Amino acid sequence: MDFLTWKLFPVLTLLASVALFLHFRDSSKISWDDGCSLLKRSRYWIKSDQIVTPGGIVAGAVEVKDGLIVSVVEAEDWTGSPNRAEVIDFGEAVVMPGLIDAHAHLDDPGRADWEGFPSGTKAAAAGGITTLIDMPLNSDPSTTSVETLAMKVEAAKNNIYVNVGFWGGLVPENAHNLTALEALLEAGVLGLKSFMCPSGIDDFPMTTAAHIKAGVSVLAKYRRPLLVHAEIEQRSDGYPEVDDEDARSYSTYLKTRPASWEEAAIRELLSVGVDTVVGGAAEGAHIHVVHLADATSSLDLIKEAKRLGHSITVETCPHYLAFSAEEIKDGDTRFKCAPPIRDAENREKLWEALMEGNMDMLSSDHSPTLPELKRLNDGNFLRAWGGISSLQFVLPVTWTYGRSRGVTFKQLASWWSEKPAKLAGLPLKGAIASGRHADILVWDPSAEFDLDDRHPVHLKHPSISAYMGKRLAGKVIATFVRGNLVYRDGKHAPAACGTQILA
Ligand SMILES: *[C@@H]1O[C@H](CO)[C@@H](O)[C@H](O)[C@H]1NC(C)=O
Ligand SMILES: [Zn+2]
Repeated sequence: MDFLTWKLFPVLTLLASVALFLHFRDSSKISWDDGCSLLKRSRYWIKSDQIVTPGGIVAGAVEVKDGLIVSVVEAEDWTGSPNRAEVIDFGEAVVMPGLIDAHAHLDDPGRADWEGFPSGTKAAAAGGITTLIDMPLNSDPSTTSVETLAMKVEAAKNNIYVNVGFWGGLVPENAHNLTALEALLEAGVLGLKSFMCPSGIDDFPMTTAAHIKAGVSVLAKYRRPLLVHAEIEQRSDGYPEVDDEDARSYSTYLKTRPASWEEAAIRELLSVGVDTVVGGAAEGAHIHVVHLADATSSLDLIKEAKRLGHSITVETCPHYLAFSAEEIKDGDTRFKCAPPIRDAENREKLWEALMEGNMDMLSSDHSPTLPELKRLNDGNFLRAWGGISSLQFVLPVTWTYGRSRGVTFKQLASWWSEKPAKLAGLPLKGAIASGRHADILVWDPSAEFDLDDRHPVHLKHPSISAYMGKRLAGKVIATFVRGNLVYRDGKHAPAACGTQILA
């Protein structure tokens, strides 16, 4: 370096930084210099022998630039050798679109001591989930108005490690108020959620078919979905009289929420669903049944509605696929959720429905609480909080219990990415293809691990998770969110730079 260059060097460096700054200022995703990414580049190639694309599994490389996938190059077409530093070679690891969990309760604001955006989205990133859609209830207040949505948005600000969108609540208070519902939808909720039975949350009361019909007619205009918790209390089934000992028995709890509750709700829901057919009063609206547990008559009704042209889809959750009522021990309230986990025969029917395409997709329904409220000490199933804590483990759980049943990577990508992206109206997500967001998961399906106390769990209350103590297969190696490497080999990027998704 001669004297002049030496003198000019700091100036040149400064000029270069200014140029870089100006160049990147408008692309908010290029923020690795703020600690958003463990990889300090905006352009790179993710190389692997198994890239799951819509066209099949290919060996090659995914080119990422400025937060987007700009090309997917097959190994034999790999021309020119780009700068080696720009290639991350993951060998035989599986590269898939990041998981989109369309059903999670992060309980923030108001009950962030149950989970909260920081721990919830850190767990999501460690679990290969790149986008999650937060449910409108279990936070305090519930997200049922423009004002309460603003509180969600504020709580999530600089606190999310993955992309987060929001469902709004359809409740009796707003169901017949067009101004209120339109304002909530205009403010950006991706769709609405309602309950056909008490939700367990005071400011989130249940809706009747008339409320649902009103909500669906507004959703039609926005072409956004209504997600429904489909259980209707059948008091005629009678609540059993139980003592404390009986209340510790899982079968006691199971009897309080029989499959007939789901069936009754879905039957009533379909009386509204008929409006969603082409040419119907609510064409453009869509009904999505969350966490279906009953794989018998309830599922048959949904199949029939699809055949009749209703715009309807259905999801189930990993806990209904992994566990059965028979194996839940007395007092082990970690397994309590609603609708309840049913018997092993039903579980096999759920798998069958998934494999045959009658079950559209999967979601976590991660619904944590405080260990005290889960009542792990007295094990009272009737009084314990209902909800399974699972967020970080949904990929290995689906894979562990699915691989022996013949589940393929393509199916995983469909249930966990492609279909949820469609439900939430996110056309730039859910697939590894050029032009899509670089929300990418890299994982090793053959790696097994024990989910014990030594395993790094990022959820706020690991002890309440039904999966603790299990041996699982499928280890997340790296998670990319809008091009930022937010997680790799047990380490998170220091800053929480996830994007909020508002419609
Ligand atoms: C409908 O909602 C709007 C906006 O929240 C509110 O100002 C208005 O009072 C509501 N109308 C009725 C009849 O409740
Ligand atoms: Zn839920």
